[in-house]
Amino acid sequence: MKQKQQSDLQIAIDGPAGAGKSTVAKLVAKQLNLFYVDTGAMYRAIAYKALKHEILIDDELSVSQIARTTEVVLDHSEQQIVWCDGENVTQAIRSPEISRVVSIIAAYVGVRERLVELQRKEAERGSVVMDGRDIGTHVLPEADIKIFLTATPKERARRRWIELVNAGENVFFEEVAQDMQNRDRQDTERAVSPLEPAHDAIILDTTGLSVQELVAEIIALTQEDRR
Ligand code: DC
Repeated sequence: MKQKQQSDLQIAIDGPAGAGKSTVAKLVAKQLNLFYVDTGAMYRAIAYKALKHEILIDDELSVSQIARTTEVVLDHSEQQIVWCDGENVTQAIRSPEISRVVSIIAAYVGVRERLVELQRKEAERGSVVMDGRDIGTHVLPEADIKIFLTATPKERARRRWIELVNAGENVFFEEVAQDMQNRDRQDTERAVSPLEPAHDAIILDTTGLSVQELVAEIIALTQEDRR
């Protein structure tokens, strides 16, 4: 792995689904003028491509082969467009169908190796806020600030359900809560880079905290770090 430049600031934000990672990460990136890298979107893009090519999600070899030859590019504009082999998949990767299968493919070593390589390349472009599950533990172990966001399972499911309803999806709360529970289990129990806080991460429970409070807290941490 290429060494981080002294002048680059790296903020790693990990945590389970619905903990508020992307909302907070986007705002921190905007306020500090950093790139935002949504690594979950990259896993979703691989799941999208596998489904599109009618590959069985349980077929680890074929899904890993697909990952190795797929170009996933995140555009760093306000719109955060996700490109998968030149196709704009920003909307498509948020479907409940992708949410259901993505943690299966995220457990495959071949998929993770490919995406970690792309994620580190993104970080070489300059200062970043990167969110995911293994950023502080594996992708950017030298990150200046490591945050692990949590919230109660009920609160996380409520946030994800509201997000889906606002996006026009017709889904039941119980269904979203169940899918999220399954995904949490798969993400924390997998053998490679499971979801867990880095030993030097700051754990923040976001239940009952406003987005503004969280963003302010993370920005204050970067100021302490730079002193
Ligand atoms: O954050 P998200 O819900 O978009 O993530 C989609 C899936 O990808 C989720 O099941 C966890 C997995 N993931 C991962 O294993 N490692 C990452 N760095 C980011 C996401």
